[in-house]
Amino acid sequence: MSVHSEIKKVTTETLRKMKFDKEKITMLTAYDFTTAKMVDAGGVDAILIGDSAANVMAGFETTLPITLDQMIYHAQSVVRGVDRALVIADLPFGTYQSNPEKALESAVRMMKEGGAHGVKIEGGKEISKSIKKIINAGIPVMGHLGLTPQSIYKFGTYKVRAKEEAEAEKLIADAQLLEELGCFSIVLEKIPADLAKRVSESITIPTIGIGAGPDCDGQVLVYHDMVGMNQGFSPKFLRRYLDLYTEITGAVAQYVKDVKAVEFPNEKESY
Ligand code: KIV
Repeated sequence: MSVHSEIKKVTTETLRKMKFDKEKITMLTAYDFTTAKMVDAGGVDAILIGDSAANVMAGFETTLPITLDQMIYHAQSVVRGVDRALVIADLPFGTYQSNPEKALESAVRMMKEGGAHGVKIEGGKEISKSIKKIINAGIPVMGHLGLTPQSIYKFGTYKVRAKEEAEAEKLIADAQLLEELGCFSIVLEKIPADLAKRVSESITIPTIGIGAGPDCDGQVLVYHDMVGMNQGFSPKFLRRYLDLYTEITGAVAQYVKDVKAVEFPNEKESY
């Protein structure tokens, strides 16, 4: 039962209360106005302008090429479509890792020009100074641990992370550090379900899982995957709620057929 569905505007504080009340948090990605409107109308609590836009919107193999200007453009489009959900935007690769001043500058641009309600950044201890600097400026920060796609060339693979105890211990320590630094939430990507449970129980801020089992405080999926627009991407954790790839290619094929046969437009569809 949702006790927070009546809330008119979801805030970081709402998410904190949802964890406290044991109500699961829902998040989906969106990158454009029309999708954001539908996702918000469907009732998600948070919308993520993920740098997965590099993959699903631009066709890049990794998330690394997308720029801050491009992410800001996506954020502006999404924010115009949202009434209720909390809108969080990824800071892309290279815009926060080098030094805290640059990180703050990037986060400020995302808030001021993009209109996001907070930013998400990948990593733990190694970026702690950047996180602190952004939070000290009054900008909500969502952390991201486990499989962090901006580090794909370091990992060399998109396989499940932290299966070994040493990496699991570091992940728990990083999660606790992110809470201490003031992050309002943490995405846990592609880690064993029992580890995600341990992390979620060891901190008071909500965890949002993707491929991290049912015991996270919430779940996130990439919109295009969840509505089945992506045929080539089928990880175990993904549940497809629609098969839009088939629906859309079928509709396009029918349109092509109708136009070729001069069956579209008909009399009613003409002036
Ligand atoms: O970029 C993204 O879409 C993400 C989610 C997978 C959490 O970071």
